[in-house]
Amino acid sequence: MLAESKKNLFNHSTIRNDFPILSRKVNNRPLIYLDSAATAQKPQVVIDAVDNYYKFQNANIHRGVHTLSQEITIAYEEARATVKKHLNAAHAHEIIFTKGTTDSINLVAYSFGKKYVNEGDEILISSMEHHSNILPWQQLCDDKGATLKVIPINTEGEIDLKEFKILLSAKTKIIAITHVSNTLGTINPIKELITLAHQQNIAVLIDGAQAVPHLLVDVVDLDADFYCFSAHKLFGPTGVGVLYGKQKWLNEMPPYQTGGGVIKTVTFEKTTFADLPLKFEAGTPHISGAIGLAAAINYVNAIGINNISEYENELQVYATKRLSEIDGLRIIGTAANKAAVISFVVDGLHPFDIGVILDKQGIAVRTGHHCTQPLWNIYGLQGTVRVSFAFYNTIEEIDSFIVALKKAIKMLI
Ligand code: ALA
Repeated sequence: MLAESKKNLFNHSTIRNDFPILSRKVNNRPLIYLDSAATAQKPQVVIDAVDNYYKFQNANIHRGVHTLSQEITIAYEEARATVKKHLNAAHAHEIIFTKGTTDSINLVAYSFGKKYVNEGDEILISSMEHHSNILPWQQLCDDKGATLKVIPINTEGEIDLKEFKILLSAKTKIIAITHVSNTLGTINPIKELITLAHQQNIAVLIDGAQAVPHLLVDVVDLDADFYCFSAHKLFGPTGVGVLYGKQKWLNEMPPYQTGGGVIKTVTFEKTTFADLPLKFEAGTPHISGAIGLAAAINYVNAIGINNISEYENELQVYATKRLSEIDGLRIIGTAANKAAVISFVVDGLHPFDIGVILDKQGIAVRTGHHCTQPLWNIYGLQGTVRVSFAFYNTIEEIDSFIVALKKAIKMLI
């Protein structure tokens, strides 16, 4: 049972024991996992929930009169209700289970685009988007003869609000923007952006992949039209994610994929589609994934997402300070409001080489362009080393990382 006070809560001998992988060694050194922005580690309760499904609950949902099918249908819909509550959505049917953030964005780009985007229209994204929040819109623009416009950022990696306002127009059909940059760590002022967009009746999709594991997200308070995230970055299973969409949009949008599960009636001539949310969940869904995601959300809520944000901010501030002390090291992304993601380069060194030497010392970081190539074109870089933290990381791990990084730099220079 998790302790209640924050002091005890972040007693890492308790927290870290919840994550079996954190006790393993890599290259004969204790694993220091600083790549949670790529995928977060899984607590035992999530592993158990998935295991339990396959051992004792396995059946298909929404299709059987038998007990197992009915039990698992209830569990799957309870998982949807857990997500609804976590995001404070108005209705459970506004929660669509998808394969992940990428799938959620593709769903909206295809379906919203098919219904609402026409030749001459504009779609707005920001300069710091992940490829997943660029390519679906690029494809849509190519198909429809629409134009993709890009909101600039300043050198710190913050949205240029003045330019944002200038870019909004009657032609803008949707804005797709990340809540937290996977590369710069910037936390965007999405509530303000959504308010400005809504003053001109423009819909807004938020890529929340990097936000949901770290911040309290209330889709009603934000007034987001669409909000997407992946379970695996929220300590849940891979291959499952969520699209939240306001029912006023989802009811009007055509199905993204068709097949079993999405229908009311089918003849060879015509199909009538199911109501939300099933209209958007073609085929057998990732049942164990949804159940694992609900277990992850319950786990996170037992700790408290605000406790997590506060603690991770301490890690970010401390790591930034320690990194800033290293000669020749430059942090890319210095926004005033940042999540626990830090990208950096070291003069004369290739990020990949640093990553390899850190790995030899048991430290997992990400190197490269982090699926944000257009962002690096702006900064004139090929990529960076990126460290990203979760609440299971410790100050001691950051100290060990700094020692290992200094060693790597010494070896490479
Ligand atoms: N989008 C993930 C990352 O930033 C994979 O690492």
